[in-house]
Parts: sequence; structure tokens; C-alpha cells
Amino acid sequence: MADCQRLILGITGATGMLYVPALLQLLAAQNIEVHGIASDSGRKVLRFELGLDPEQLPQVTRWFAPDDFTAPPASGSAPYDAMVVLPCTMGSLAAIAGGYCGNLVHRCADVTLKERRPLLLAVRETPLNRTHLNNMLTAHEAGAILCPPMPSFYNRPKDMDEMALHFAARICDLLGVAVPAGSIKRWQGF
Ligand SMILES: Cc1cc2nc3c(=O)[nH]c(=O)nc-3n(C[C@H](O)[C@H](O)[C@H](O)COP(=O)(O)O)c2cc1C
Repeated sequence: MADCQRLILGITGATGMLYVPALLQLLAAQNIEVHGIASDSGRKVLRFELGLDPEQLPQVTRWFAPDDFTAPPASGSAPYDAMVVLPCTMGSLAAIAGGYCGNLVHRCADVTLKERRPLLLAVRETPLNRTHLNNMLTAHEAGAILCPPMPSFYNRPKDMDEMALHFAARICDLLGVAVPAGSIKRWQGF
């Protein structure tokens, strides 16, 4: 993908918030500017899981309210290079797959797809029903990258932070963002 300088982060109300600071840490290391939108549920689950409000995530320089359709990223003319929805609920996946712009997260995702920019959806639910699977396929066919936060173990993470950093580094790989040496243990064979 083209050089990623500025990215939109959508936080929706799925479990898995520990991945958010990990990704922000890696993006900050590459001086990537991050603007954020948290859905109402995203704000609640972030507070529940990490004890933080979105505004307390230091690497995000600007937050937009989820009902602010006048915000710059609601238009394709605003210069954003990519969008990540992390974590992405099944509800937001359904909206994005269906082109329904019920809040600013959905609208920005829709804009990202229509502008043919990378849109990564870290969809999280288990187990998955047929609707979830169909929506994932629809979003994939529309150009989104479906990247569920599934931890890996071949890297033998010492703790949850290391596990989260590895997944965050895989997101960076998919966006073409370099990751600092040591933040990911790449498979070298046995
Ligand atoms: C603690 C907690 C964890 C949740 N985890 C998930 C989840 O993993 N996946 C999901 O699709 N919804 C999950 N939900 C439900 C969503 O938050 C809910 O469907 C919400 O309406 C989604 O809205 P949003 O997509 O605008 O954030 C969770 C809710 C709570 C309170």
C-alpha cells in the first residue's frame, strides 16, 4: 500500500481492548498520525477493560464524536491513508458490510472503501453465526481486510502485553507499516 502517514482508528464495543494501546505504540514509533472515533459501546468497553477513556490514549491526537458527521474523515476528500476498526463488533461489521452509515465509524469505513484505501476490520465474536460469516465475506469482497484478533502462540508470548504486541505488529504488516525490531518474533522455522 501507499506510504501510511495518517490513519483513522475506530474503536467499537467488542472485547479485546488490550490490542489498542499495543497498536498505538507501534504506530507512534513510526510517527504515524492517528485520529480516533469511539462508538458509544466502544467507549464503555474500553473503560471496563482498561479503565481508560479514549482521550487518555496519548498517541491519538484528535477524537471525533461518533455522531459528528461533519468531521473531516466523513469525507473522502480528507487525507487519510487507511482505517483500522479495532476491535470491530458484529454490529459494526454488519453496518460496514451493508453500507449503512449509522455512526461516524461506519461512515468513515464506507468512505475508506469507496476511496479504495486499506480498511482493516479486527472483527471479534465467538462463535460465529451465518450472518457474521456472510457479512465478513461481503466486507472482504468490498475490499476490507478481515483480521480477527486471534492470538498466536508459536511466538511463545510471556504475557498478555507481548501477545497483544504481536497481533498489533501483524496489523502493521498488513498496512505496510514497519515495526521496530523486537516487537514481533517472526517465524524462522523449527
Ligand atoms: C463487555 C462487553 C463485551 C462485548 N464483546 C463483544 C464482542 O466481542 N463482539 C461483539 O460483536 N459485540 C460485543 N459486545 C456487544 C456490543 O458492544 C454491542 O452489540 C454494541 O451495540 C455494538 O455497538 P458498536 O458496534 O457501535 O460499538 C460486547 C459488549 C460488552 C458490554
